[in-house]
Amino acid sequence: MYDAGKILTGLIIFLVLVTFPIWSNLASGEAAYKPELKIVTQEKQCVAPTDYMRASHMSLLNEWRTSVVRNGDRVYVSHDGRSYEKSLSNTCTKCHSNKSEFCDQCHNSLGVRLTCWQCHNEPKENK
Ligand code: HEC
Ligand code: HEC
Ligand code: HEC
Repeated sequence: MYDAGKILTGLIIFLVLVTFPIWSNLASGEAAYKPELKIVTQEKQCVAPTDYMRASHMSLLNEWRTSVVRNGDRVYVSHDGRSYEKSLSNTCTKCHSNKSEFCDQCHNSLGVRLTCWQCHNEPKENK
């Protein structure tokens, strides 16, 4: 003989417990894991607005590479009028010299593995 009411109550309690991590994250607006990014440079601005960099730095690097390798154009002028060399090792890692505390923090947490450092100089970090 089944007691539908009790079974249903039990099921609801079970579901609430099992999904607790999901909705508690949603409620607090935080992801379960947040990379800790350390900015070591004294500069206040990246080469493009921070939101754009967060979402699209890979496209920017791709554009830089194409522009340098195909067209020999090595000068990038930023949104606020500053000029930079279009270079992974000479520009990005000059300000972000702490690759393990910055680039790797995001990439490792997401399983992104860069092949770039096979050819491009990795920043020499103080270990
Ligand atoms: C097989 C070797 C190799 C790999 C792997 C590689 N590159 Fe390059 N890359 C080069 C060479 C060679 C140049 C031309 C260097 C120059 O003319 O200054 C270059 C140029 C560039 C440039 C412009 C010049 C500069 O100083 O940075 C960018 C930006 C760039 N690559 C980004 C990347 C990124 C991002 C990755 C990984 C997704 C990557 N590359 C992987 C060999 C490589
Ligand atoms: C002139 C120094 C400088 C250079 C060069 C530079 N950055 Fe940045 N970058 C910064 C600073 C400062 C911030 C933090 C800005 C802020 O807090 O709003 C930042 C933020 C970022 C972020 C966003 C981090 C976050 O909070 O989510 C990414 C991604 C990034 N940079 C990647 C790059 C890449 C890739 C390059 C090379 C194409 C590069 N940066 C070149 C100074 C620099
Ligand atoms: C805020 C987090 C974050 C930071 C900081 C960050 N990245 Fe990324 N990066 C990502 C994500 C996410 C992807 C994967 C995007 C995708 O697969 O579409 C990625 C992808 C890339 C790619 C393309 C990889 C490929 O093989 O296609 C390159 C190149 C790259 N990042 C370079 C850098 C460099 C250099 C730095 C440090 C200067 C850096 N990133 C810092 C989040 C970050």
